[in-house]
Amino acid sequence: MTRKVILDVDTGSDDAVAIMLAALHPAIDLLAVCSVKGNQSLKSTTENTKKVLDLVNSKTPLYQGCKEAFVREVCPWRIKFEDRATIVDEEGKEHFIHEDFDMLPKSDRKVEDMPASIFYVDYLKNAKEPVTIVAVGPLTNLAVALAIDPSITKNIEELVLMGGADDEANATSSAEFNFFNDPESAQKVFQSGIKKITLCPLDVTHKTMVTKDDCKRFEEIGTPAAKFAIDMCLKRIEVHTQRQPLTLPDACALHDPLCVAYLIDPSVLTDVRYLHLDISLDGLTDGATIIDHRYFQDNRNVYIAYDGDRKKFVDIMCDAFKLSK
Ligand code: BDR
Ligand code: CA
Repeated sequence: MTRKVILDVDTGSDDAVAIMLAALHPAIDLLAVCSVKGNQSLKSTTENTKKVLDLVNSKTPLYQGCKEAFVREVCPWRIKFEDRATIVDEEGKEHFIHEDFDMLPKSDRKVEDMPASIFYVDYLKNAKEPVTIVAVGPLTNLAVALAIDPSITKNIEELVLMGGADDEANATSSAEFNFFNDPESAQKVFQSGIKKITLCPLDVTHKTMVTKDDCKRFEEIGTPAAKFAIDMCLKRIEVHTQRQPLTLPDACALHDPLCVAYLIDPSVLTDVRYLHLDISLDGLTDGATIIDHRYFQDNRNVYIAYDGDRKKFVDIMCDAFKLSK
């Protein structure tokens, strides 16, 4: 059975792979893609998204979303992003893990007239059947939509998120990038009453690594999607090796496509716990996930993945990349 999916992205190297997986895999009916500011400015994330949709010949409409976070920009006293994951190459040139996709042809694709948040309200109010949303950037688009019309939750079958961390962090000493960049939006989403929220935090994405050997499998597939995934992974592997080594050598976390892979085969997540999660909005823990593990608590609001099957994850991507022409 195919899942009807709206994908919200801040493209971004790993977002790009999530887009390709969602657009190509037959188990996903990709209804729309929404862009948001995050890994880069809204202009860059939108341009990158257009190019990736072109690369996989997708006709899926693209809605441009929010240019800035819900509140953060009007709070100059809040702590700033600490780690712009960059590496310096042999020629002394600095590379960011999420660059503009200048290696892809310029795209003539038009973005839809409606802003992404208005699209969510319009589509979800009138939806004939429930929809799954996968959001792998800051949650601003969805939070604005919920602020306009909280009743849209009734047509959201499941919300799958990449964000947060229990025992890890990347943006600050305690917070993960997506939630740190727009903590108020993340809080709004977790308090919205959406029927089912499934979260892939850094705890699982740092375990479901993609290695240089996996890139060799992509190379054998050799399609445009497989080749672009190699580009994205090799740069990410370099960054991880230099700045944030994982438990396997020559490996990277490829966070965002894991959420899409979960929709294709839920068993890719292997240790999923139903817990209560809140977002800190203050001080040193700004944007951090506060997860309640107490046995007796009865206000659980999210299924959190702590482990996954990395081989299955790579197999799922290979299946999709084979379909790229
Ligand atoms: C998340 O932050 C972004 O940089 C990635 O695209 C991913 O969504 C990981 O913390
Ligand atoms: Ca992302």
